[in-house]
Amino acid sequence: ISLKSYNTFGIDVLAKRFIEVNSIQELKEIISKEKDIFLLGGGSNMLLTSNINKLVVHLNLKGIIVNDTIENSVFVTAEAGEDWHEFVLWCISLNYGGLENLSLIPGNVGTSPIQNIGAYGVEIKDTFYQLEALEIETGKIKTFKKEDCNFGYRNSVFKNELKGKFIIVNVTFKLTKENHNTNTSYGAITAFLSSIKNPTIKDISNAVISIRESKLPDPKEIGNSGSFFKNPIINLKSFNKLQEKYPDIPFYKISNNKIKIPAGWLIEQCGFKGKRFGDAGVHKNQALVLVNYNNATGKEIYELAQNIQQTVKETFGIPLEIEVNII
Ligand code: EPU
Repeated sequence: ISLKSYNTFGIDVLAKRFIEVNSIQELKEIISKEKDIFLLGGGSNMLLTSNINKLVVHLNLKGIIVNDTIENSVFVTAEAGEDWHEFVLWCISLNYGGLENLSLIPGNVGTSPIQNIGAYGVEIKDTFYQLEALEIETGKIKTFKKEDCNFGYRNSVFKNELKGKFIIVNVTFKLTKENHNTNTSYGAITAFLSSIKNPTIKDISNAVISIRESKLPDPKEIGNSGSFFKNPIINLKSFNKLQEKYPDIPFYKISNNKIKIPAGWLIEQCGFKGKRFGDAGVHKNQALVLVNYNNATGKEIYELAQNIQQTVKETFGIPLEIEVNII
């Protein structure tokens, strides 16, 4: 079957064998017979560059449970196949706080911890409590607490040592019931909410949705995978040199010696913003997002990404790391 509708980039590659899994029992049976599988969740963080010869397993585990509440906290467990944004909206409808800044991120709950999804000053590690994952080798379910996951900027143990070894089946978040610890420090959000005195988590979610809609293409309309690159982190000495040459360079200070530069700015400066090469392109409102106007191949998108990496390296001396998984 074609995987075009199973990846947000809308890349048309074929899967020889495809199976949809609706329960952990079914998943266990599959991995007891075949270990070298290709797992497909929301397909929102991958660029498919060729047909898939492995068995493609589409994880469709559904369900949300409120496990327990203590004082101001509530533990909410969502199965891996739940749509991330729908899950966030569900939490907000019950006035459970903590995920509102992560509204409208494409993908499923089960893949959210792998890259520690983050936006507008919040990452899932801030509310993550634990997850359960099936170990492919043994078929056993293992629990990972926050400290087991090694969360970092767009990073976790599941992108490193444990890559390909576990299938995340559910994730539990520890959310607040009232007196939410909201974070409206991100410039665009502060500006958006300036007329509201005490913004609710719903207000914050609405602000995030508006900001994202104004900058980021809707994958249902134009294929994309969100930020294609990570924002590079450079040391203070290199930054000072750059700032002399480019006084307007935007930056975030991470520590005394570490500065994060928005990759979107670097790419825009190199003239790529809004450019189109056949059906592969750079989004007109956010240069960090590569897009598929319809019939681009994964290889064409990847070539554009390499062209961008090379130009940014030549211009600024900064290597850009790809955030999306290249398959
Ligand atoms: N900028 C430009 N030109 C552009 C894009 C950005 O000059 O075309 C500069 C501007 O100075 C702007 C700054 O970059 O103020 C920051 O831009 P933005 O707020 O859009 O955030 P970002 O750093 O480009 C990161 C995340 C996004 C997340 C936003 C908001 C990464 C790789 N990306 O982007 O995450 O939504 O911050 O928190 O860290 C994603 O991972 O898919 C994603 C969309």
